[in-house]
Amino acid sequence: MAKAIVESFGRLPAGEAVEQYVLTSAGGAVAKVMTYGATLTQLHVLDKKGQSANVVLGFDNLQQYLAGHPYLGSTVGRVANRIANGTFSLDGVTYTLARNDNGIHHLHGGRKGFDKVLWKAELAATKREVGVKFTYFSPDGEEGYPGNLDATVIYTLTDTNELKIEYSATTDKPTPVNLTNHSYFNLAGAGRGDILDHELMIAADRYTPADETLIPTGQIAAVRGTPMDFTAPTVIGLRIAQVPGGYDVNYVLNSGGGKLALAARVRDPKSGRVMEVLTTEPGLQLYTGNFLDGSLTGLGGTYRKHYGFCLETQHFPDSVNKPQWPTMILRPGQRYSHVTVQKFTAM
Ligand code: BGC
Repeated sequence: MAKAIVESFGRLPAGEAVEQYVLTSAGGAVAKVMTYGATLTQLHVLDKKGQSANVVLGFDNLQQYLAGHPYLGSTVGRVANRIANGTFSLDGVTYTLARNDNGIHHLHGGRKGFDKVLWKAELAATKREVGVKFTYFSPDGEEGYPGNLDATVIYTLTDTNELKIEYSATTDKPTPVNLTNHSYFNLAGAGRGDILDHELMIAADRYTPADETLIPTGQIAAVRGTPMDFTAPTVIGLRIAQVPGGYDVNYVLNSGGGKLALAARVRDPKSGRVMEVLTTEPGLQLYTGNFLDGSLTGLGGTYRKHYGFCLETQHFPDSVNKPQWPTMILRPGQRYSHVTVQKFTAM
């Protein structure tokens, strides 16, 4: 039987209580999500022998989340990924945002993005599914963004071991919105080595080449003949040495976005665990934990370079400055909506 329980996960420095929701599916998966950052803290799924392991990097205590970390399991917003030089123009007005990415660009919503705020939560369960609905009110001007934004993120665990994440938002002034989840996966189990032997397929024939500071050039290029090509299942480590630092690249999904479609499939050969990612978004950032450096020890062990991979479903980076790309501008009267499903099996 699916079930959900709520437990205390500590207090913020100002005293607010943080809660963690533990969702258990009838299919044997367990997801833990907390109200600070609407963060996925743990995700336990079965391998081909029926053994359960936590497959996302994270911590078992709030202190480590507060001490600083590279968005482990975080909900990222108001705009995930980079905005060049922390500036954009909208309807003739220029907005200036924090340059929190090496002092050059804006990254993942700024200094205090949606990953560092306390969300309100309520259980959202049905017979076959168990879930939590998180809401956050982001006031006009927060982190430099225009408009009061009401944001909702619903995590649902289904009986067939799918973790569904549904995002929605409304605004009272035009504003860019690009929400995603920043979980680092290791299908062998968090902390149990690197992910270079995982086989990855990405349903994208094209990607957005970027400069050395990871701002897209604005071109869209074919993956064919490059180390970015994951159109057929390929071991992540096979060509990673040809990509300075490792993969940190946005793919242009073949689906074009707008409807739920397969974006990626990953398999860990040791455990047989498979994760399929379906999304309504047009883009997918593959990030191979290039900046993990062994300075964090979390669930399962110490997190070293390439100990996790992220598949961030999103609009293309710096879209606010690339009018030719799918827009991330939300206007009053419209609703931002994004659905991503991670489906777990083993073979
Ligand atoms: C970005 C990386 C960045 C990381 C932060 C990823 O989404 O693509 O460039 O370093 O987030 O942890």
